[in-house]
Amino acid sequence: MWLECIECRGKFDINSRFYTCPKCGGLLEVELELGKLKQKLRKRDLELKPPSVWKYRSFLPVIDESKIVSLGEGGTPLIRCDRLGKEIGVRELYVKFEGANPTGSFKDRGMTVGVTKALEFGVKTVACASTGNTSASLAAYASRAGLRCIVILPRGKVALGKLVQALIYGAKVLAVKGNFDEALAIVRNLCEQRNDIYLLNSLNPFRLQGQKSIGYEIADQLGWLVPDEVVVPMGNCANIWAIYKGFLEFESVGITEGIPRMIGIQAAGASPIVRAIKEGKETFEPVEKPETIATAIRIGNPVNGPKAIRAIRNSRGAAESVSDGEIIRAQKLLARLEGIGVEPASASTIAGLRKLVHQGEIKKDDVVVCVATGHMLKDPEEAIKTAVPQHRWGRT
Ligand code: F0G
Repeated sequence: MWLECIECRGKFDINSRFYTCPKCGGLLEVELELGKLKQKLRKRDLELKPPSVWKYRSFLPVIDESKIVSLGEGGTPLIRCDRLGKEIGVRELYVKFEGANPTGSFKDRGMTVGVTKALEFGVKTVACASTGNTSASLAAYASRAGLRCIVILPRGKVALGKLVQALIYGAKVLAVKGNFDEALAIVRNLCEQRNDIYLLNSLNPFRLQGQKSIGYEIADQLGWLVPDEVVVPMGNCANIWAIYKGFLEFESVGITEGIPRMIGIQAAGASPIVRAIKEGKETFEPVEKPETIATAIRIGNPVNGPKAIRAIRNSRGAAESVSDGEIIRAQKLLARLEGIGVEPASASTIAGLRKLVHQGEIKKDDVVVCVATGHMLKDPEEAIKTAVPQHRWGRT
């Protein structure tokens, strides 16, 4: 395995601790000898292992297995949603319920790998900026590993459930003025100056390797088939890339055939990538003051934007934005028709799917998977507003 820059294609030792390319500043990706893996890997061996991120160990960049930090992440349900599908107009619709992870979001898939790498590198402190879920997850995995954890959050902008998690797991929580993009700039700066603090935001190429397992797992749960479309909410824009990479790798080693169209959804008030895709641009204009009730994806300058644009373009996918009203309606619909409780960012996928079906971009006979990235209880304040009409709220 090696690190490779997605821009200049520079290659670096897998044990390097860069977050971006030292030559051109581009984003890094972990690459592996897929040809060699293809010769060794047997579908049957995978079938014998229990569902987990570590089921796909041979695709993951961990050298010292004794250091693996795990809380049982991955193996989340892929739930077929016929009632919701009928309402939206899709015959075969699934929701990948990432709220079932140990801290209630998909971030745990990345942190099990990222925090294991932190132990391999011998650091004692890990850090991140976050809209809430990354910090909740990092705080838990750091505790599990016996590491100190620093999280930098945009003050007053993080959902209560997520804030409580970071605090109770014992992270040092710093709330800063400004938005997520500014919090990320602060923590990047800190980790550049202090070599003893390891950055675990999604710039970290190792963390994303764990998130590839969403793609592997969807194919695995569909009986080694790939859906036509995978719909993913985009914030800092790493997850859509990681899932895409998972499908690419499975295809390269001959486990599956073809890759799904990657569909990225952003909230209307924070949608720089959707705009770039719709305008056919290779680069994007940051949104200065991002705004949406889906606080998880309230990000105006996604650092992994170039990866998301590639994932969508290379898979002949699409991108769409949705309003806060559409998100709230979708959250309620998913809860009431299927019993699946998700936070607003995750509900954006259902809202986006509805729009894209209406536009004819997604066909009614397609097999579609929406990735529900986080649990409803992450954001109880928004959920209660969704459940009870506001005019009645004061009297209940
Ligand atoms: N859904 C949820 C629930 C999230 O928490 C996030 C990101 C996303 C979707 C978007 O994923 O950033 O890879 O495009 N949350 C980050 C955080 C930013 O700090 O918890 P992405």
